[in-house]
This record gives sequence, structure tokens and C-alpha cells, in this order.
Amino acid sequence: MAEKHIQGKIVAVCGKGGVGKTAFTTMLTRVLRDDPETGRLLVVDADPAMGLLYALGVDTSRSIGAVREKILEAAEKGTAGEKAEVAEQLDYLILNALQEAEGFSYLAMGHMNAKGCFCSVNDLLHDSLAQLVNQFDTILIDGEAGIEQINRQVTDHVNTLLLVTDSSFRGQQTVKTIEKLVADGYVPACERMGVVLNRIPGDESSNKDLKKVFNLPVYGFIPFDSEVEQFDRRGESLMKLPEGNAALRAVRATIAAVNASER
Ligand SMILES: Nc1ncnc2c1ncn2[C@@H]1O[C@H](COP(=O)(O)OP(=O)(O)OP(=O)(O)O)[C@@H](O)[C@H]1O
Ligand SMILES: [Mg+2]
Repeated sequence: MAEKHIQGKIVAVCGKGGVGKTAFTTMLTRVLRDDPETGRLLVVDADPAMGLLYALGVDTSRSIGAVREKILEAAEKGTAGEKAEVAEQLDYLILNALQEAEGFSYLAMGHMNAKGCFCSVNDLLHDSLAQLVNQFDTILIDGEAGIEQINRQVTDHVNTLLLVTDSSFRGQQTVKTIEKLVADGYVPACERMGVVLNRIPGDESSNKDLKKVFNLPVYGFIPFDSEVEQFDRRGESLMKLPEGNAALRAVRATIAAVNASER
């Protein structure tokens, strides 16, 4: 596997609410799943709203947040024996939150901050999660709007950060804000960071001005796609999009652009 390829690495998808992070992550999953270079693929939903499972067509309600609740409960009410038992079971509980799907594994973070900051519990989880993540070759993370969440909860390290925006001014501004957070060292630097334009009406040539807005490389141009819109409207998994779908084609081109880029 080429060292700088997106496959075999940790890829995080961020951007303003509603710009299409989940749709894009799902289409990335679809393309990467079918690529032998990807190896073992883990897809992580880092958004507490946990919407990714519908787009992926995964059937589970388990999450790391639920494991965390269980530990907290034992810590608050449990006897010493019960506490020790939960601590011993931690790796098992986390493994149990993992859902096997067709050609990839899925993990939802769920609500992690529901009961304030319990740093020791978060540290425990963090270590167990790190071990789990290590067992995979390619890790795809569907984030919330900010990137801090991802770093705190899922991994300390991101290789490729993809900032998704639609054509809206506020979407563009969020990309710039995240870029600045990374530049100012609020989160560990990622090796590679670029923009993915999504749900853009019209073709690439009629949107040249949009590409010029960013200081970052623009890796992807995903058009507005009525099939994506209809699948989501019906609650049908985007993993079932037909092979020739235009948005999927654009996602393949995006991966190629990332892989061709310098780090
Ligand atoms: N390329 C596209 N073409 C058409 N519709 C799209 C496209 N990408 C996303 N959408 C639609 O835009 C809406 C928002 O997408 P999505 O849920 O993926 O955004 P999100 O960034 O994950 O939102 P949130 O911040 O709430 O998690 C959905 O209805 C989805 O079907
Ligand atoms: Mg989402």
C-alpha cells in the first residue's frame, strides 16, 4: 500500500451541520469497502445524534456512550466487587459495541458527555478504544461539526481530515474555522487536510469560483444528486446506490485526488 494513500489510515470527515458529512462518509465507505487496498475497515459515528447507521443500513443501537453509562453506574452504586467486574469487562463491553456489517465494522460513540466530565472513565475508554482502533487498517470517522470531539473521544491522531461544505457561506466559514483550529494547534495536526464540496448544483466548470474561496486544496466536487436525495428521503441505505451513480463516481474521483496529493 502506498504510504500516502487514504486507505490504511485514519480519515475524519468534518463540517457544518447538514452539509452532507454522513452521506459523504457513507459513500466513502461504499467505495473503500470494495477496494482491496482498504484492508479491515472500521466506520465510526462520532456524532451523538447517531444518524450514520441509517445511511449505512446497519442494524444496532449499541454505542460506546452506553458502555460509559454502565461503568458510571457501577462506579456510583456498585459494590467493590461489581466495580472490579465492570473494569475487567471493559474490553469485552467495547468489543461488544462493535457491529459487524457487510465488508466493514461499525462503531457508534453515542452520548459521551451526558453526565459531565468523568475524566478517569474517559481515560479508561480512550485506552480501550485505542486498542480496538489498532486492530483495523482503515478508519473512517463521521464527525460532528467540530473536530475537537473526534480527537478527544476516538483517536489522538488523524491522517487525513476532509472538511465538507455545501455552497453556503456558513458552510465555507466552518471549513475556515476548523482550518484555523488545526493551524493554531488546538487539535493535533493532521498530515493532510482538504475540502470536499458537496451537494453542489450545476457542474464543476460553473462552480470554479467556489474552489477559489479556500486556502486548502479542494479534493472533491460532489454534485447535487437526486438519487442520493431520494434514497435518504425514503430511509434507504446509500450503500445501495447503483454503481454508476454520479455522486459515487465523484467520491471515487475524490479518493483519487487525495491519494495523488502531497502531504
Ligand atoms: N450530494 C448530495 N446530493 C443530494 N443530496 C445530498 C447530497 N449530500 C447530502 N445530501 C442530503 O443532504 C441532507 C443532509 O445530509 P447529511 O445528513 O449527510 O448531512 P450531515 O452533514 O451529516 O448532517 P448533520 O450535521 O445533521 O449530521 C440529507 O437529506 C442528504 O440526503
Ligand atoms: Mg451527519
